[in-house]
Amino acid sequence: MTTGVGREFMEKTEYPNIGPSDQSKGLPQPPLEKGARPDQTLINLPKPAQVKVRPVDLTAAINARRSIRKYSDEPLTLGELSYLLWCTQGVQKVTDRPATLRPVPSAGARHAFETYVLANRVEGLPSGLYRFIAVPHKLVAEDLDESIGERIAAACFGQYVTQSAVTFVWAADVYRMVWRYGERSYRYFLLDAGHVCQNLYLAAEAVGAGCCAIGAFLDDEFNIVLGLDGENDFVVYAATLGKG
Ligand SMILES: Cc1cc2nc3c(=O)[nH]c(=O)nc-3n(C[C@H](O)[C@H](O)[C@H](O)COP(=O)(O)O)c2cc1C
Repeated sequence: MTTGVGREFMEKTEYPNIGPSDQSKGLPQPPLEKGARPDQTLINLPKPAQVKVRPVDLTAAINARRSIRKYSDEPLTLGELSYLLWCTQGVQKVTDRPATLRPVPSAGARHAFETYVLANRVEGLPSGLYRFIAVPHKLVAEDLDESIGERIAAACFGQYVTQSAVTFVWAADVYRMVWRYGERSYRYFLLDAGHVCQNLYLAAEAVGAGCCAIGAFLDDEFNIVLGLDGENDFVVYAATLGKG
């Protein structure tokens, strides 16, 4: 019999054990995304539908996908970044509920991630850390200090996050999911993140790039670098991506 914290987590997040959610108690739904802060300027991205990508056959993309950890110096275009953001977390529709519908599934359409982009080599984008504002499909700058890449690398055990053209980081905005699913949410963050990253693997094929998931990182260090408190917001998953 397994008795560790993992087993305890699975038991305590079983539906009969999670209690009523804030949604079921009639509390108001939190916003669909954090949005830009008043001090942040929205950065336009090319419209994803107008970005020219390779016509990739789905079976071929599934077959070709591999975790790629070495990249050339070739930059991504801003259009390619826009396309990859759309494939992973773009908003196709805001429904009446309201909820967002996106290219990836999400438990209850909660879509509780904020996407951070460490841009190392993107044409027209100064290097640094950005955040994707999904509903208007724009970016905001979060940290353009030249040390940001190294600080993220240190949180990721020195992995190659600065050698990529871009490194994506998906962080949970916890209450967006907890409002509806309570403690069950912590399972759903992990499941949702897998869908997002898989779309990145497949979409990478359409821009002639490769990517690699990163699940090995120091949670506290990573959260601190991104300015997250680790409780209400925390890093769930990351992935590097670059041209071959
Ligand atoms: C949840 C998860 C976490 C991972 N974390 C890392 C990581 O931190 N560093 C890394 O180099 N690869 C990481 N990988 C990539 C795996 O090592 C890779 O998928 C595996 O070796 C199989 O290779 P393939 O993706 O090329 O088929 C991770 C993959 C997954 C699914």
